[in-house]
Amino acid sequence: MAEDPRTWLTDLPVWRALQAQAAPLRDVHLRELFAQDPTRGERLTLEAEGLYCDYSKNRVTDETLRLLVQLAEAVRLPDRIVAMFRGDKINATEGRAVLHVALRAPRGSRLQVDGRDVVADVHAVLDRMSDFAERVRGGAWLGATGKRIRAIVNIGIGGSDLGPAMAYEALRAYSDRALTFRFVSNVDGADLTEAVRDLDPAETLFIVSSKTFTTVETMTNARTARAWLVQHLGEAAVARHFVAVSTNAVAVQAFGIDTQNMFGFWDWVGGRYSMSSAIGLSTMIAIGPAGYRELLSGLHAMDEHFRTAPLDQNLPALLGLLTVWYTSFFEAETNAILPYSQYLKRFPAYLQQLTMESNGKSVTLAGRRVDYPTSPIYWGEPGTNGQHSFYQLIHQGTRLIPCDFIGFAQPLDPLTDHHAVLLANMLAQAEALAFGKTAAAVAAEGVRPELGPHRVFEGNRPSNTILAERLTPAILGKLIALYEHSVFTQAAIWDINAFDQWGVELGKVLSQRIAPELTAVAEPDLAHDSSTNALIRRVRELG
Ligand code: F6P
Repeated sequence: MAEDPRTWLTDLPVWRALQAQAAPLRDVHLRELFAQDPTRGERLTLEAEGLYCDYSKNRVTDETLRLLVQLAEAVRLPDRIVAMFRGDKINATEGRAVLHVALRAPRGSRLQVDGRDVVADVHAVLDRMSDFAERVRGGAWLGATGKRIRAIVNIGIGGSDLGPAMAYEALRAYSDRALTFRFVSNVDGADLTEAVRDLDPAETLFIVSSKTFTTVETMTNARTARAWLVQHLGEAAVARHFVAVSTNAVAVQAFGIDTQNMFGFWDWVGGRYSMSSAIGLSTMIAIGPAGYRELLSGLHAMDEHFRTAPLDQNLPALLGLLTVWYTSFFEAETNAILPYSQYLKRFPAYLQQLTMESNGKSVTLAGRRVDYPTSPIYWGEPGTNGQHSFYQLIHQGTRLIPCDFIGFAQPLDPLTDHHAVLLANMLAQAEALAFGKTAAAVAAEGVRPELGPHRVFEGNRPSNTILAERLTPAILGKLIALYEHSVFTQAAIWDINAFDQWGVELGKVLSQRIAPELTAVAEPDLAHDSSTNALIRRVRELG
């Protein structure tokens, strides 16, 4: 597939050098690294676009960092960045450019794809979105009975849900509190049922968000929502209560939504990279066009940082390289995302799709099976809830779990005394993970000797702490782009395509075969494996 098959990753001399580095470092404690260099906590930090990242609590030396940058150079990360920003068809298995960065390019800048200036197209859609959002927010867009819209229900799944749902929660403090927002994704009827049960159809606007407009879950939910609306307000009401966000105008029309009420995007926007396309319509209605443009400016600022900063000063590249370091050289299998902000409660879920649908791959761009691990499993919960749940395992379990702590110096709520407690916890967790508590310290506290081993904290657990002044739309944009480009960096090292997702197809196809077998009146002839056959029979019996 790749035009220029490169040297196999693990044969690169710099890879071998990193292996040689990693071996002795396994026995070095962060306590020693900090003791050797009292300036480490200030030196191993990087500030980019208002995000301060302390990466000193990582099990790296200056030499490790130098080698990681060399690795990025050896796999030609800079060329790959240029190729993405130039609009090359780097999503080779789907023959597509990858240009989410164009979605946040400033008006007037130019980027050609297949001879078209995509930035002009982007801003034309943004202008239509802004106009619509203002009309909904200002009460100029009314429902079919003349009532104002008070509830917005986004129906979508994956990238057409997680970004909007996460951004709404993250930016709730900036949202129009007179409006209610709901996000329906699961084909489980409970999701839609619960989302609309207390809503007045006459005041409800549905945004059907689907890049393809063929996704079974979204289409099923959209059809049911449409039936609910028609039942209450009649067929003619659909035009005032349904808008679509999609790349597929034909399917939108076939569904019964006027393409006048459709906001488009393009095949060069991957689903999990689409929250700054028209998929962000609900976000724009929530925070207003000006707030949305701030979000875009934050994304763009981090895009520019990634595009232009030298590798050793490049925050997304650094984050990506550290992830490679632990995944490939310390056998770390997961990466915890720990935002100390309730507003970021959906951020870990959002990052799960971004990271794992992107880099959960096991063949290289050229189609060869890799013999090294690729994406770690991303997971997490907001602090401090996680502390009373799974942190025990991070502190004293047998696995190495690199953590990203994310916090803000200023709260958005008025309860500043809570905020000090919140931030103290974040800083304390990073400190405890890194430095632990020795057997001697435990004994000095008078702990009975037999309890000593239970009370020791080994420490040496790595983490990054990402700190910003406060959570704003622009800062959220910067955080999102930071992780997008970290994923890009990881994919470049592992030589995988971060922009396709063939792995989700098989289950979709098989479910289409099983669905009629579950509902058939006559006993169906089942030709699956014996386990699946038996489960289908049991569901039929119990159903
Ligand atoms: O999970 C597979 C996937 O294709 C995602 O990549 C995408 O975000 C999601 O389904 C939804 O797709 P669509 O926006 O086309 O409905």
